[in-house]
Amino acid sequence: MDFEFIKKLTGYSGCNLELLSSGGGGFFVRKSSAGPTYKKRLRSQCLKQAAFFKERQKTPVLSPEVLRYGIEGENFYFDMEFVRGKTLAEFMPVASISEITYFVKILFSHIYNCDAVENTKANTIFRKKISELAENIKMSEPIRKSLALLKSFDWRYASESPCHGDLTLENIIVAPDKKLYLIDFLDSFYNSYLMDLAKLFRDLELGWSFRKQPVSTNRSLRLLIAKEAIMRELAELENAPQIIT
Ligand SMILES: Nc1ncnc2c1ncn2[C@@H]1O[C@H](COP(=O)(O)OP(=O)(O)OP(=O)(O)O)[C@@H](O)[C@H]1O
Ligand SMILES: [Mg+2]
Repeated sequence: MDFEFIKKLTGYSGCNLELLSSGGGGFFVRKSSAGPTYKKRLRSQCLKQAAFFKERQKTPVLSPEVLRYGIEGENFYFDMEFVRGKTLAEFMPVASISEITYFVKILFSHIYNCDAVENTKANTIFRKKISELAENIKMSEPIRKSLALLKSFDWRYASESPCHGDLTLENIIVAPDKKLYLIDFLDSFYNSYLMDLAKLFRDLELGWSFRKQPVSTNRSLRLLIAKEAIMRELAELENAPQIIT
């Protein structure tokens, strides 16, 4: 297949992202693993995105279509539809209140409206993950206390359900027609809509996606509005997980 390199797109995961032209005014994005260690994971992430697209393509929350994938040398790559738009992190400082509440509403009505199922092995799965983290992290007193708190949490409350896995504001593209395209899916160790909401809250409360930018009251106000809207939707979620003890 003939294509022309246009430019590199930035990302932090260590994968290569390129905008390519297929001729005749058509563009696509190629994401490839840098080295063999991430090959298998990028393949899982690509398949997760393809499955999500298949299920949601006619809804206002979808993902770029996976056009093709394969192996090139030691790397896995996949090509996807190029979405013209801004990431939600870029869009947020200029979003109106009604746009913010609309985005939260469509996220909830199109992704998190499914049944969440209790996983009886949740505590074992999470505690194993927390132990692995503890082994690979530079320990300090606040981190030690946080890990102890996480270990004592009853993870059965984190019912299983489909999720994106790394839902930060940088991984959501707002298209000109206000559809939301989810990118950069993660092959997470556990799938729960609560994982997505936790990642979103890291952005909305702690400003993770804006950590390299100066503080902005304008932006903080909008993040707060988004957080309030999510809290309202969460309270109304019909299928909120029920734990019987
Ligand atoms: N299909 C696409 N259409 C338009 N822009 C895209 C597309 N895929 C990626 N991008 C742009 O490239 C950026 C990096 O993409 P992506 O999040 O997949 O990379 P990453 O390196 O895995 O990122 P992360 O920083 O989350 O680890 C996105 O924030 C977005 O701006
Ligand atoms: Mg990303």
